[in-house]
Amino acid sequence: MSLAYLLGQSTKFVWYSTHYLISFKYATPIKIDRENPPPFFKKMPSGKKLFYEMLKLFNEERKLINQKKYKIPKTNVKDFTNAFKGSFNFFMDLPKIDKRRTQNKFNDLEEDKDLPKYFLRNFHYQTDGYLTENSANLYEFQVETLFSGSAATMRRFSMIPMIDFVKSKGENLSFLDIGTGSGEFIKTIKYNFPKLNVTCSDISKAYLDVAKKKLKNFLDIKFNNCKGEDLPFKDKSFDIINSVYLFHEVPSAIRSKIFSEISRVLKKDGIFILTDSLQLGDNHILDPLLEFFPYSTHEPYYSKFIREDLVNTAKKFNLKMYYSKNAYLTKTLAFKKI
Ligand SMILES: C[S@@+](CC[C@H](N)C(=O)[O-])C[C@H]1O[C@@H](n2cnc3c(N)ncnc32)[C@H](O)[C@@H]1O
Repeated sequence: MSLAYLLGQSTKFVWYSTHYLISFKYATPIKIDRENPPPFFKKMPSGKKLFYEMLKLFNEERKLINQKKYKIPKTNVKDFTNAFKGSFNFFMDLPKIDKRRTQNKFNDLEEDKDLPKYFLRNFHYQTDGYLTENSANLYEFQVETLFSGSAATMRRFSMIPMIDFVKSKGENLSFLDIGTGSGEFIKTIKYNFPKLNVTCSDISKAYLDVAKKKLKNFLDIKFNNCKGEDLPFKDKSFDIINSVYLFHEVPSAIRSKIFSEISRVLKKDGIFILTDSLQLGDNHILDPLLEFFPYSTHEPYYSKFIREDLVNTAKKFNLKMYYSKNAYLTKTLAFKKI
């Protein structure tokens, strides 16, 4: 298993980091005042240090898989064709992203009275924001490129607290995912916990539709197009709630509302698993990179996110943190509803 795992991850790393390097070379350089650079700029980790941190992540996951903690869905022919299709679409889209970035244009989206202003933006300067099928189809490739092929691994650390919870309660549990996006991680969830009663939710109808297509073989999954801060579910409906890479993309006040809604729809002793970006102080080597991120792309709420005391905010809504684990550039926190 170790050899197969290492081979798979190395291939992914080479494929996506090549895309990263080509896009970096192609892109207009990010404007930094060289005379008076931001304080974090001189402390940026070298490529070697980053590579070492990523290797630690892969080695940790290799051990988890050897211990049979969880399984990775098998790669099939479709994954390879998708990789080439994704590569083509990724490069076709790059000039548009670069143009938006150099002009700092992050709101070329149409008004939609049903969607909040904070959401109607070209996050990461991406084409169509989160509003179209094209954007949803490109999303996974873009995320894997940003993280040089480590995104799926980092997300999988969300399953660790889930594994222990399911072991103690049995698998017949209700599970809600908030901000499902194009659904990649849910495949892994269903592969590992086939009996879990899964509901996927997202504010973006287009992303949820792509998730639906991707997950069509799992007939029991439910889909709900809704906001995390206004969940259309009854009080105490879920045993497990999960959210990956959503919290850094909303303003602080919305984050609090999402915590409040999670607390409302979670059963007593149920768990909420929050997997998102590392925050400042979690790994000092990577701190400068976290500060650089909103410089290099459109992430309007990220600087506040990396400074917010999430544990304390959650506590205000009866969610008590009992688990915390860093996974390279990501961190998983698990909370119990008390
Ligand atoms: C960065 S993506 C993360 C997607 C996926 N969970 C992943 O692991 O890649 C953020 C997702 O959250 C959704 N989203 C943003 N604001 C939201 C909100 N207030 N309520 C629900 N979903 C939201 C977006 O539409 C997008 O699909």
